[in-house]
Amino acid sequence: EGSKLWGGRFVGDTDPIMEKFNASIAYDQRMWDADIRGSKAYVKALERAKLVSTDEMEQILHGMAQWSRGVFVIKPGDEDIHTANERRLKELIGAPAGKLHTGRSRNDQVVTDMRLWLRSAISTLTDNALQLITTMVERAAAEIEVLFPGYTHMQRAQPIRWSHWILSHAVALSRDVERLQELKKRVNVLPLGRYTLNVLVCDFHFELGFDSISLNSMDATGQRDFVAEFLFWASLCLTHLSKMAEDLILYSTKEFSFITLSDAYSTGSSLMPQKKNADSLELIRSKAGRAFGRCAGFMMTLKSLPSTYNKDLQEDKEAMFDCYDNVQAVLQVTTGVMSTLKINQTVMEAALSPDMLATDLAYYLVRKGVPFREAHGLSGKAVFTAESKNIALNQLTVEDLTAISPLFGSDVSSVWDYRSSVEQYSAPGGTAKSSVAAQVEHLRNWLKKH
Ligand code: ARG
Repeated sequence: EGSKLWGGRFVGDTDPIMEKFNASIAYDQRMWDADIRGSKAYVKALERAKLVSTDEMEQILHGMAQWSRGVFVIKPGDEDIHTANERRLKELIGAPAGKLHTGRSRNDQVVTDMRLWLRSAISTLTDNALQLITTMVERAAAEIEVLFPGYTHMQRAQPIRWSHWILSHAVALSRDVERLQELKKRVNVLPLGRYTLNVLVCDFHFELGFDSISLNSMDATGQRDFVAEFLFWASLCLTHLSKMAEDLILYSTKEFSFITLSDAYSTGSSLMPQKKNADSLELIRSKAGRAFGRCAGFMMTLKSLPSTYNKDLQEDKEAMFDCYDNVQAVLQVTTGVMSTLKINQTVMEAALSPDMLATDLAYYLVRKGVPFREAHGLSGKAVFTAESKNIALNQLTVEDLTAISPLFGSDVSSVWDYRSSVEQYSAPGGTAKSSVAAQVEHLRNWLKKH
């Protein structure tokens, strides 16, 4: 079948079902621009190596200059973006188009395209993530006075600053940005011209902005760890955001009422008129599962593949695009949610309860020389006494407390203050205003460098 790029040795036609099954054009057309950029650099290298004449190079470059979105029409039979582009070039300039593929294979072309595409996708994701972190850091700075309950095991633990909670998630996201920059170094390696088993020409990586050229042709075309790494990165970043979304969903319930989600990021119920659902946050929470599914699925595809290119590798692109689309959407929506939600400070602070100061009660004794383990036990007894009397911890009288330990005195009243409770944790990483402000400053400086 003469019309196929690889049709020379074939006499029979491809079964239409096979044709559809084999084609990747439906999704790899997203890389059309990368494919053209790679080809432009490649034809110049062919000319320098005297494998095409200057005139032929000019014709090819001129032909490819006519590409633009909207004008290019995919034809039935276009198998992938590489064959489609070459088919179009041939229509435009005729025979010289056939020289472009000298020393090149779709196997190196496809990874080159993917690396170019992913490189710019990474800078978009970096920008989106930085915007989200900026939103969170500035919100934390603005609302630094607000206190609310900190939970562990979803049980009321200690009073903390709302900003401390926000920053805990911003810090994790800052590591995601750093990881993405690390990964970018391994993405930005040029495989083009390393056609599966050998190399004809290669002196054009600077033109395409690659940092280096891959060391080995079989590795260049047969490995996809850069894709797997990106899929894992997406899974991890989305996992961080799912944890944050989960807290916010809970905080937005009537029972908590700590936050009110903006109408712009909520939806209603088709049945119950009063409902305002946190759909944005639920979808944010959901995407980690999908991304990790992509990651795990692609790892299974890679496992035990023989050396070099095998068609199984065509599966890499849908996973990559899907993870990119989802992380990008999630980062943008989360930025929207975080910049528009309203906090209900009164409710948050009213939710604090004296039992959350039991640790401070133990520290009171520690300051009087009691070993922490013992102080913990004595404070626990105080909690027990209050519970059996059905009163709040801070309603225990000095007599109640001295019955537990003679070290308790009237100055114990200083413990029953939420603000001084958070303020005593002024070491780096703590909940005191100075410590949280230092976190804000640290992240602001970090943002300036990224
Ligand atoms: N569409 C193919 C892919 O995505 C391009 C490489 C095809 N190579 C081949 N030897 N059939 O992987």
